[in-house]
Amino acid sequence: MTDTVSSEVQPSPPSRAWLRIMARVYDPFVWLGETVGMRNRRHELLADARGRVVELGAGTGLNMAHYPDAVTELVLTEPDEAMRRRLARRLRRQGRAAQIVDAPGERLPLPDASVDTVVSTLVLCTVEDPERTLGEIARVLRPDGQLLFVEHVRASSRFLAACQDYFLRPWRNFAGGCECNRATVELMRACGFTVAAEHFVWRGMPAIVHPLVAGRATR
Ligand SMILES: C[S@@+](CC[C@H](N)C(=O)[O-])C[C@H]1O[C@@H](n2cnc3c(N)ncnc32)[C@H](O)[C@@H]1O
Repeated sequence: MTDTVSSEVQPSPPSRAWLRIMARVYDPFVWLGETVGMRNRRHELLADARGRVVELGAGTGLNMAHYPDAVTELVLTEPDEAMRRRLARRLRRQGRAAQIVDAPGERLPLPDASVDTVVSTLVLCTVEDPERTLGEIARVLRPDGQLLFVEHVRASSRFLAACQDYFLRPWRNFAGGCECNRATVELMRACGFTVAAEHFVWRGMPAIVHPLVAGRATR
């Protein structure tokens, strides 16, 4: 049976009030998942970041502690105002130099072929238009550039995939637009990326976001 991503009427965007609440509860909500594995996953992934790095949807800045010295410039994009405030606070606390940019992944205000590493952790599930975002990533990456990612994805188990489809709408409303059934690796390949990825379980989180992929995509 072919996996299909549920197609339904265009969802309405989450309200600003709800996004403010989400920004406030994000760190406590993912705390268990971070503690039992995701923090290590971030660390291992970002050890390969180098040069000029652009992170998409940087959220509250949970990746900040993991960027290595090989990163010469860090640009953090984040379209949500409440998240940006928390991100700025974390940067100040950690004394980390980075530029915060108000931009969605679909419209990166960066020149073509100007970035060595794009980072996306738990963001390609949430962008409104993943194909357009992947097109933007391809545009801004230098020819030898890389996309480093950790994303939760559509399950390979039929039962779990059916649960993801069933809970798509309530989860999306709760999680600020996140689509738990998105086949992100397949989308990357369809957009022309070569993908090397490993599969994991996002422990400490609801089962519909358990299937996790981490890896590198290149053009
Ligand atoms: C689940 S959070 C992940 C935050 C962070 N990357 C992390 O690893 O903890 C999803 C993030 O994507 C951001 N986001 C939502 N729509 C976006 C878009 N179109 N482009 C880029 N980021 C977006 C949200 O504001 C939020 O910060």
